[in-house]
Amino acid sequence: MLFLIMLAMISCKEENKTLLPVNIIPAPLSMVEEGGFYQINAETKILAEAGNAEIKNVADYFADQFKRASGIVLQSDEFKDGESGKGIIFKLLKTADSLGKEGYLLTVDKKKIILSAVTADGLFRGVQTIFQLLPPEIYSETVKENIQWNVPGVKIYDKPRYAWRGMHLDVSRHFFPKEFVKRYIDLIAMHKMNVFHWHLTDDNGWRIQIDKYPKLTEISAWHVDREHQPWDQVDKPKPGEKATIGGFYTKDEVREIVAYAAQRHITVLPEIEMPGHSSEVLAAYPELSCKGGTFYVEPGTYWPNLDILCAGNDQTFEFIEGVLDEVVELFPGPYIHIGGDEADKTRWIACKKCQSRIKTGNMKDEAELQSWFITRVEKYLNDKGKRMIGWDEILEGGLAPEATVMSWRGFEGGIEAARMGHDVVMSPGTHCYFDHYQANPDFEPRAIGGFTTLKKVYSFDPTPTELTAEEAKHVLGGQANLWSEFISTPKHAEYMSSSRMTALAEALWSPKENLNWDSFRQRINEQFKRYDVMGVNYSKGSFAVNFDLKFDNQKQEFAVNLTTEQLNPEIHFTLDGTAPSITSPVYSATLVINKTTTISAAIFVNGEMKEAPSVKNLVFHQALGSKVKYGVMPDSRYPGIGESTLVDGIKGSENHTDGLWQGFEGDSPDVEIDLGSIKNISSVTATFYQRWKSWIFLPEKIEVSLSEDGKTFAPPRSYKNTIPANQDGRIIEEFKVNFQNQKAQFIRLKAKNTGVCPPWHDGAGGKAWLFVDEVVVE
Ligand code: ACM
Ligand code: ZN
Repeated sequence: MLFLIMLAMISCKEENKTLLPVNIIPAPLSMVEEGGFYQINAETKILAEAGNAEIKNVADYFADQFKRASGIVLQSDEFKDGESGKGIIFKLLKTADSLGKEGYLLTVDKKKIILSAVTADGLFRGVQTIFQLLPPEIYSETVKENIQWNVPGVKIYDKPRYAWRGMHLDVSRHFFPKEFVKRYIDLIAMHKMNVFHWHLTDDNGWRIQIDKYPKLTEISAWHVDREHQPWDQVDKPKPGEKATIGGFYTKDEVREIVAYAAQRHITVLPEIEMPGHSSEVLAAYPELSCKGGTFYVEPGTYWPNLDILCAGNDQTFEFIEGVLDEVVELFPGPYIHIGGDEADKTRWIACKKCQSRIKTGNMKDEAELQSWFITRVEKYLNDKGKRMIGWDEILEGGLAPEATVMSWRGFEGGIEAARMGHDVVMSPGTHCYFDHYQANPDFEPRAIGGFTTLKKVYSFDPTPTELTAEEAKHVLGGQANLWSEFISTPKHAEYMSSSRMTALAEALWSPKENLNWDSFRQRINEQFKRYDVMGVNYSKGSFAVNFDLKFDNQKQEFAVNLTTEQLNPEIHFTLDGTAPSITSPVYSATLVINKTTTISAAIFVNGEMKEAPSVKNLVFHQALGSKVKYGVMPDSRYPGIGESTLVDGIKGSENHTDGLWQGFEGDSPDVEIDLGSIKNISSVTATFYQRWKSWIFLPEKIEVSLSEDGKTFAPPRSYKNTIPANQDGRIIEEFKVNFQNQKAQFIRLKAKNTGVCPPWHDGAGGKAWLFVDEVVVE
């Protein structure tokens, strides 16, 4: 009803007024720019309905920020409905309305601003819109002089698409101080998001004070110092070595953060991991393990992660219930997250107590034992008036009756749960893992892997088309996760999260019809100005240049298009391997490349290079564009770009997941290249990759044989590997076999996989990977 009135108002728009820029993110549901503006100055009054503390809190929040940035203290006055007061009016609508809990109406003309909503949540979201209508300096923590605090004339009707719009922060892998947690909450608030998922416990540190179990903060919160080593290559703690790295939040600090979030109309969702990702608990309370012994709080990742709480021991549940009693007291939100992910069952299989529990409970297997475990914890939480949420592994062995599922291994777990009538929060790794790379890994700080660009995040739709309308109602919304294995400082956490949070906010708030990538990538530059004022270390990954390559086999040339996430950027490039500068040619049309070339390209704004140049090496050789037959196909997870991968002229990068490498698990590739006609061959060079930490090893040797007719092959020539399997790092190695101008049309290449990981390796006896790319024929 109110929406219809709004539309009627919208149609009375006046003509011929100059418009101030409006760049609201997330884009509102409907907005009309009316021209003109309201100026906030020392005369402006804040008019809030009398006797309503919630409204006053929102009005005070607005006035506080305005004062910080402008130095102006806005006077308050009582607003009585029916009056046509001048100033900034905050009011609640009397009747429940299509606006819902978080929607708001905002009208700005030259006499007043009226912000109205059904609840204070809606008013708070509306305040974020007013901030975004003001100059970016409104986000300043110090007074900015000579700013006209003009709010453009608009009429806005706005409400979110999804009720759950979350951001997660892992404070276990690396501990983040209270001040940063608050800043992170401020970022969530400015994006009109409403859930802060606080990942408080994991193998690398327990982060919350629990009075009943003091050793959790004395022991489980600390690990030995391995700050100088890469997270995935740390040395194990030595016996007796002092644990000095870590930290935790006291109960008072937790209360302070919960209150800080509440003031921003954000719910804090605490996560207490079980039954896996809990070895830090065992370091303090080894009696809760299956096998006993000594446990350390690990200073990095070790894999596989077998240690787990014993499901057959009643003490485990006494512990969990004792912890949850105190957690429930601290967090007023409706949900408690119990983790549930990646619980390896090896220990349970070998444990008498766990096996006895399976038997007496008539359970089929360890998956059912996990389900029984989680269901028991759910009952405990439900009895305390809380709902339980867990990662999608809690589906395995049967979902607890009331559980909500957070789907991280893709959308499938969420789909399955929604079909069973359970609520779901979508958080698939493909779109929502902000620990992934966001631009070319060659130029980015080390990340855990993956590739989740701004555009990918923007394309996130939490509601899969497979769901019926009825099932889709169970999709509460979406959330991004910031795991901190490779994120050790607040500045780096900002770098990984802030730009992508802006894209996620719009994907979760704005109606699908309003999502527009071109509009968004123009508006995000205004968001970057706000971040500049706030001193947020945002990623400029959207300024990176990408290469879109097409090879024309007939003409033997590449057509190269340079693309970016920026709208209409100024790209300068070089073709000689040097870095581009402002005087290098400007990219305006497809580049045609017909010889071995290094392309370097970067975006310039106001004469300044915005992000490190992107570089692409194109290699021309005799096999370019040839047909390739495979004896064994690559693993489906690492297919490269298909059957042209080895002869496409494009070399794989140091990131083996860049989509350019072909991976073989345990298998030895065996390919036959057809050059199309007989040619003189002087050498065949294949490129391989080694990274033992990822179970990828160079081949033992390669064998190359030549044939003129494809039937009779000359005896093979070989090249043997000389690099040790335990050599650290990401190794790209060329294996070259020479010939004396031998005539051939067919080339057969076999590369011998080492087969299994060596005895000293974490994965000893497991299948070894072999990664191969370009086979250069000269
Ligand atoms: C997860 O990423 N293990 C939930
Ligand atoms: Zn056990």
